[in-house]
Amino acid sequence: MNRFLADEAATIALAGEIFAALPDDRAGWTVLLTGELGAGKSTFARALIKAAGHQGAVPSPTYTLVEPYKLPAGNIYHIDLYRVSDPEELRFLGWSELDDGFRLVEWPDRAPDLVNEADLAVELEYAGNSRTASIKGLSTRGSVLIQKIN
Ligand SMILES: Nc1ncnc2c1ncn2[C@@H]1O[C@H](COP(=O)(O)OP(=O)(O)OP(=O)(O)O)[C@@H](O)[C@H]1O
Ligand SMILES: [Mg+2]
Repeated sequence: MNRFLADEAATIALAGEIFAALPDDRAGWTVLLTGELGAGKSTFARALIKAAGHQGAVPSPTYTLVEPYKLPAGNIYHIDLYRVSDPEELRFLGWSELDDGFRLVEWPDRAPDLVNEADLAVELEYAGNSRTASIKGLSTRGSVLIQKIN
């Protein structure tokens, strides 16, 4: 599924649409956010976390690797692997303990095996001053979700 995202508001709206299409129980879901520096990965993540009911700041997880959000709508883990150089480092992150929530992962290419357990890939690309998004289902349930948001 491809979308033209004219401006930041369009990126925010897409994140809201995807959140709305997810089931109520989002624990164990993993969404990979890819794209160059400044493509809009954090914009998308911040919008989704706010759509889930979080009020207030959404700090960058670049240095902490993971920022947890314990929300009435369920746990969300915002993860940024930019600084991870060896997939082994994920063990220190406690990846396997983050399965009681919804995982949003920036720079997932730092841990190639992640693709095997992810549900959706959202790839953001520059298109002049705008962006395009390509959304792919990586699991059966992820592919079903994409059918709903065409
Ligand atoms: N569809 C869009 N069109 C134009 N600008 C956009 C769009 N979506 C987001 N932006 C802007 O692009 C910038 C994206 O920054 P953001 O931090 O989200 O990128 P990022 O992919 O997380 O970068 P990094 O890899 O450095 O973490 C922001 O200034 C945001 O306002
Ligand atoms: Mg970012």
